Amino acid sequence: MLHSKRGGWLLAMGAAAVVGCALDARAVTLTLRAVADTTIYNDNTTGGNGLGQHIFVGRTNNGGVRRGAIRFEIDQIPPGSTITSASLAMFVSQTQAANTIGLHRATVSWGEGASNASGTESTGTTAEVNDATWLHRFYPDTFWTTPGGDFEAVANVSVAASGTNSTTTWSGAGLITDLTVWMNNPAQNFGWILKGNEATRSAKRFNSSDHLTVNTRPLLTVTFTPSVPMGACCLPVTGECQLRSQANCLSLGGNYSGDNTTCAPNPCPEPVGACCLNNGSCVDTVPSNCTTLGGMFRYGASACATVACPVVLTPFVDALPIPSVATPVSGVPSGAAHYEIEMTEFTQQLHRDLPPTRLWGYNGTYPGPTIEARAGQPVTVVWKNNLRTTTGDLRTTHLLPIDTCLHGPDATGGLPVTVVHVHGAKTDPLSDGDPDLSFPPGQESPVHTYPNDQLASTLWYHDHGLGLTRLNVYMGLAGFFLVRDAAEDALNIPRGEYEVPLVIQDRTFAPDGSLQYHQDWQEHFFGDTVLVNGKVWPYLNVKKGKYRFRLLNGSNSRAYTLSLSDASVFNQISTDQGLLPGPSLLSSITLLPSERVDIVIDFAGYETGEEIELLNTALSPYPAGGQGPDIENVMQFRVVSATGDQDPLPGVLTTFQTIPESQAVRSRMFELQSQFDVDCGHERWRINGLLWDDITEFPRFNTTEIWSWVNRSNVSHPMHVHLVSFQVLDRQNFEVVGGVITPTSARVLPPASERGWKDTVNATPNQITRVIMRFNGFKGLFPYHCHILEHEDHEMMRQFRVVCVGDANYDNVTNAADLSVLLSQWNQQVLPGSGADFNHDGIVNGADLSVLLGWFGTGC
Ligand code: C2O
Ligand code: CU
Ligand code: CU
Repeated sequence: MLHSKRGGWLLAMGAAAVVGCALDARAVTLTLRAVADTTIYNDNTTGGNGLGQHIFVGRTNNGGVRRGAIRFEIDQIPPGSTITSASLAMFVSQTQAANTIGLHRATVSWGEGASNASGTESTGTTAEVNDATWLHRFYPDTFWTTPGGDFEAVANVSVAASGTNSTTTWSGAGLITDLTVWMNNPAQNFGWILKGNEATRSAKRFNSSDHLTVNTRPLLTVTFTPSVPMGACCLPVTGECQLRSQANCLSLGGNYSGDNTTCAPNPCPEPVGACCLNNGSCVDTVPSNCTTLGGMFRYGASACATVACPVVLTPFVDALPIPSVATPVSGVPSGAAHYEIEMTEFTQQLHRDLPPTRLWGYNGTYPGPTIEARAGQPVTVVWKNNLRTTTGDLRTTHLLPIDTCLHGPDATGGLPVTVVHVHGAKTDPLSDGDPDLSFPPGQESPVHTYPNDQLASTLWYHDHGLGLTRLNVYMGLAGFFLVRDAAEDALNIPRGEYEVPLVIQDRTFAPDGSLQYHQDWQEHFFGDTVLVNGKVWPYLNVKKGKYRFRLLNGSNSRAYTLSLSDASVFNQISTDQGLLPGPSLLSSITLLPSERVDIVIDFAGYETGEEIELLNTALSPYPAGGQGPDIENVMQFRVVSATGDQDPLPGVLTTFQTIPESQAVRSRMFELQSQFDVDCGHERWRINGLLWDDITEFPRFNTTEIWSWVNRSNVSHPMHVHLVSFQVLDRQNFEVVGGVITPTSARVLPPASERGWKDTVNATPNQITRVIMRFNGFKGLFPYHCHILEHEDHEMMRQFRVVCVGDANYDNVTNAADLSVLLSQWNQQVLPGSGADFNHDGIVNGADLSVLLGWFGTGC
């Protein structure tokens, strides 16, 4: 099953009247789809959401008012007919509170442009030409007389909108009145403005006529006794059959089949039109032949000359690539060694039927070469930004659209700055890929040192450019960094050809093979194809035996819930930062962006030639879905006849000690919440409402803390902390009572799949997720953030500073300078969070000084 969903195709279907049938000789019932619908926003007065999947009506959390607009073409109803019943049904997919919504007849025309606020639909996106906005009937030049729309003050029909996942229906005499007016005066049919409760929080989200689920789109049902006979009318261009009067049919250039003929069975000849084939090419033919060719007929699109066919890629036609292993410039390969790694621009073919794609990668490959490292044996790397244009000049622009409203590009503009972070590595701050140390093409990093004083684990390196991470990683800047150790070597687990890293990433392509990404920052990016190790939906030939797969979700926003197509079980043997105590049998596993697990799949029991798919069932955004495309296929395993590794897995993999809660010297709460950003004019995610440069966490070196992720939303956030590895303690429901986070359930232990060392955790929706960790190894400034790259790039990323006890000037407690800095900070009553505030209550009292004096000299 392929999942390439492009707006043009669906819109073309959605805009047509879909059914027409005669109930008896006289009464006719039509069910009609909207020809236009959109939302206007009073706090984003030039924003639109024409092609978005939803319509909002009412007042939001943040006090913004939304109104909907919707129009149906009813010219199939002959003027002078008698409408006997009518109803408008709209599907509610999200609800805030009660909301009585009236249908007000618009008194002027308005438009629906191509804007699509996918991901930020509740706030809209920049309007496109012909969009209706709060100010415009047709953006950018034609305005309403009254901002918010020109419409009849009185709604002839209103109804209390229903709750989530149910249908709201307007019907009755008022609706018949409106339709009768339009039937007799078609030039006055400007549709309705949907206006609800605008005084209190009330917003309802309806599915629009652009929603991917066709049967949840708005539907108008009208039953009438026609004033003149009607019959089947075959329309030109589309070849569609609709019930119309003879005169009306002929005026449209249609073919009238005769009075009282019907569309079922369909008397119309098949129309010739654009048929999009699987390889992205197009032929003009009839629908039945298109089906024979395995193509997709574009109803409503007249010819290939005017149609852009979606890219439809066949799954499982390319072999899975295995990234090469990086070669050091000095030292011991796979041990203590020094590397020089360049970021360059190149093209690479990502699917059999795609032209080569322009990418960025490390040392000319996507994914980058795998760095093989051993515990205790330091690796050093100089990372070079050598991104150049096709003419060989150092790049001064990005290949993808930059959003200069974001922190980073607001200063660097389009310059493609980069910096490399080894995710999960314990390093000093200057080797950690601090986004503030991003550098432009032509420059290189200082020597980054990775001591590898950590457990055997699947780490990865990726770009961390300030405000550009989502774009740079999307371009291809990612690779594996594997740490091995003697304890793992001693285990009899699959290795060599039976140990395979798999990085899973979603992308969207244009027919020319180029990567597609949103024009401006959006809350999420969900591609329409899944790549593993840089190939779209690849296959891997597997021998009959066990394989260790090192799974990495390297996607920007997409979560994956992975399972095998035959529902077989597999063993999980590790989490992000190391081996589990023992193999854990699972039938599915969910990975949020940047989470890793190593799993062992046993192919011993399969027949030669069997094909098993690795499938995904996670919705996007995770877990609620609704903004997909949702993609099922990931990759395929093809069983060959040879025998592979059939040794049993060891029952014990490592000893794992839980960190007792009693070790924690401090607990911190982090509220994860979406808030309106006045500067950029949209919602964005934040941590405790603070920004990157607001540093308020100063964990003391070599102490243990508990951090609670309080997720005030319906979306999972993969929260990642640099420097540390942590353990997940538990999760708990909460409610916000009078502004206070109030737990409402017992704490629940994490599932077995999370009971190991981790560095990225699913902060589950509307729950408190607690992690415990020890701040050791290095002191200094480190990032922590959500690993949905779109969130991270737009302020869901902050910093903490690991400090020594008594180290007021952050240079370690080595000299009397600390004491004098402390004394002067204390005297000046400097702000909370500064070096002198030892009991973390602000420097407000003498307690700090005495704590300080007691600690001085006992430091790190
Ligand atoms: Cu994988 Cu700061 O990130
Ligand atoms: Cu990291
Ligand atoms: Cu997030």
